[in-house]
Amino acid sequence: MNFNPTFYQLRDQFPLFREKGDIAYLDNAASTQKPEAVIQRMAEFARYEYANVHRGLHDLSERATAAYEAARKCAARYIAAEQPESIVFTSGTTAAINLLANSWGEQNVQEGDTVLITELEHHSNLLPWMQLARRKKATLAYVPVDPVSQTLNMERARELIKKKPRLFAFAHVSNTLGSIQPVEELCALARKEGVITVVDAAQSAGHMPVNVSAMGCDFLAFSSHKMCGPTGIGILYGHYELLLKMPPWQYGGEMVDRVQFDGATFSDPPARFEAGTPPIIEAVGLHAAMDFLDSIGRENIAQHSAALAEEAAEGLRKIKGLRIFGPASGRADLVTFEVEGIHAHDLVFFLNSHGIALRAGHHCAQPLMRKLGAPSSSRASFYLYNTHQEVERLLEAVREAITFFRS
Ligand code: ALA
Repeated sequence: MNFNPTFYQLRDQFPLFREKGDIAYLDNAASTQKPEAVIQRMAEFARYEYANVHRGLHDLSERATAAYEAARKCAARYIAAEQPESIVFTSGTTAAINLLANSWGEQNVQEGDTVLITELEHHSNLLPWMQLARRKKATLAYVPVDPVSQTLNMERARELIKKKPRLFAFAHVSNTLGSIQPVEELCALARKEGVITVVDAAQSAGHMPVNVSAMGCDFLAFSSHKMCGPTGIGILYGHYELLLKMPPWQYGGEMVDRVQFDGATFSDPPARFEAGTPPIIEAVGLHAAMDFLDSIGRENIAQHSAALAEEAAEGLRKIKGLRIFGPASGRADLVTFEVEGIHAHDLVFFLNSHGIALRAGHHCAQPLMRKLGAPSSSRASFYLYNTHQEVERLLEAVREAITFFRS
């Protein structure tokens, strides 16, 4: 196993671990911790630099606007978007996908059309499309997950894409299986058929390099709180020509060009999609988080976290009566498992009493987990500050739980 010792020094940059060192926080797919650099930057901005953006003519507002727009530029660089105007700030991945379904979807999906997703989607990349399909009398189709390999059935993906759905939306990394989808291949297949692609990068953007130009996707969404940044902010990336054609979804201040008593015209993107006062302090925090992650290197983060997940999977495989989900190889940075005869909630409560934090339940992927015959399971998800010792603690505590519950 290839662990990088410099990662263990990073742990000290997180107040939670520096001051409460005994917590094994293995719930990073749900949300990650914040380093001092992000907390400090947000506090400094809130203390001395804060004002509303795009509205004031005073210095403070101009400086806040510059900081907000610098975060947009940083996000564009971070995912290799062609221009900062392709970056829309939303409240997170869920809001970004709802925006797409309600704006692009309302405009482009008609009765009889098909919207294609996959069986491994998080509810946030399933329900907005399900509701859109219902409203429009369109069909929602799914690329199946092979129950044995627990990867996408690529043959079916090819067949379904060839049928020219209006749109194909899929997760880069599954929050439940930890599988990494072949994004470039899927986007290339879709592009050939003129199908618009949406990549849910919630589980990948803070964990591995994400390059929209190389991926060849039309839209991509991610959340700041899963990548060392604050809650309440995320990104919708879109090809600018596509964003330009989309109608607004939410209406209010700062997204208009001209308003009269009997009508209005709207600003160009991204302002068109950022009605109301945006998450300004959070944008500054996300900027600091992206800088922090890039100072470490996303390749390095991916290697470190995947090595820990693989070590955990290997250790769990050796425990009798335990079922592990996800692909046999090529796992990202999480491992979901089920212990025969022990409910996931009981297991996670037990682990919590040992200072180990995991998620239990359906992981917001109910249809997939039902298909795999495990409506409830436990998930350990790793990140840059996790350690080999924490994997050992997890394995030891799972063994103890089995003895405890079975005795
Ligand atoms: N989407 C988050 C998870 O997978 C909340 O846990």
